[in-house]
Amino acid sequence: MHKGKWKIVRKLSRKISTVWVVTRTKNRKTQRGYFKILDKKSKKYAGPLLANELISYRLARALNLKAAKIKLAKIERRRGVVSIVRPARRHYTWAELSKKLNSPIMKHIDNPQQLLKTFVFDIWICNVDRHGENLITFPKRNKYSFYLIDHGFALLGAMKWRRVPWNSSYWNHVTKYNRHYVQGLRSYIYSYQQLSPFIEQIQSIPAYKIKKIVKSMPVSVLSPSKKKIVIKLLLYRQENLHVIVNRWMKEYKKNDSRSRVLINKKSRRKMKKRHIARESSSYPTGYYSTGYYSSFTSRPYNTL
Ligand SMILES: Nc1ncnc2c1ncn2[C@@H]1O[C@H](COP(=O)(O)OP(=O)(O)OP(=O)(O)O)[C@@H](O)[C@H]1O
Ligand SMILES: [Mg+2]
Repeated sequence: MHKGKWKIVRKLSRKISTVWVVTRTKNRKTQRGYFKILDKKSKKYAGPLLANELISYRLARALNLKAAKIKLAKIERRRGVVSIVRPARRHYTWAELSKKLNSPIMKHIDNPQQLLKTFVFDIWICNVDRHGENLITFPKRNKYSFYLIDHGFALLGAMKWRRVPWNSSYWNHVTKYNRHYVQGLRSYIYSYQQLSPFIEQIQSIPAYKIKKIVKSMPVSVLSPSKKKIVIKLLLYRQENLHVIVNRWMKEYKKNDSRSRVLINKKSRRKMKKRHIARESSSYPTGYYSTGYYSSFTSRPYNTL
């Protein structure tokens, strides 16, 4: 199998990380990718960016979630990761597709259950950045399928970005750190039962598999002490995922007895009009709790 070298096509200007569009020829087929490096800025805001990307990709794969393949690469003497574009007729980001369609996006998604699985997966890995640009959709038969990209702000990247220690109870409250819900997701979730099969799936990944994925990172990408932290974080959240998701449901749902579980945009606007400031209780922005997972009774971090 012949793999050509990655070549830089152009640079994308991004807020934090530097991303280049790259191509290579593999078995006479051209492959496209997006190359990211760990520069000063990304290190400052996302910590071990390359490891965040690589570990998240491998965990997604262990769950049969479609994610862009992430490869470590050295291009023009820079070390980074390439996020490989899946071959398809066309690609749209989730945000682009929802704008383009004139009916709810979930009706057009080939396997909408995958979005629920992605949501639970993101909770597991503490992803703070699943916005509409970080899911890539592509036409599949007469619908659209999608895959996951960009996990730079998951795992230790999330902790660095929010400047909250990995073992703070803050991370038990998804409503505190997650400000993104892709179009269509909120109104699609109405019960815990919809999410529980994915929680169970994550909880059934054997610990040795998770450890193996983290330990397989080169030391230059993730130091041994950081590996230990990532393993503790993942095992702890895996074990307590049902509690964390349940809490998200409770903290996110309306305080009154009306039947809808989630506050959608429309009702939020209505509530604002009525001067009901309930939303603020769901999004305590700027509120950081620094207690140490004291509210959970299971395995404390230091015994892992
Ligand atoms: N595998 C891929 N397939 C298709 N498009 C991709 C892929 N990887 C990256 N992209 C495109 O490149 C853009 C930038 O990549 P990425 O989201 O990883 O970088 P970022 O700078 O960290 O983004 P953000 O602004 O979300 O922090 C994406 O929004 C997407 O449009
Ligand atoms: Mg992105």
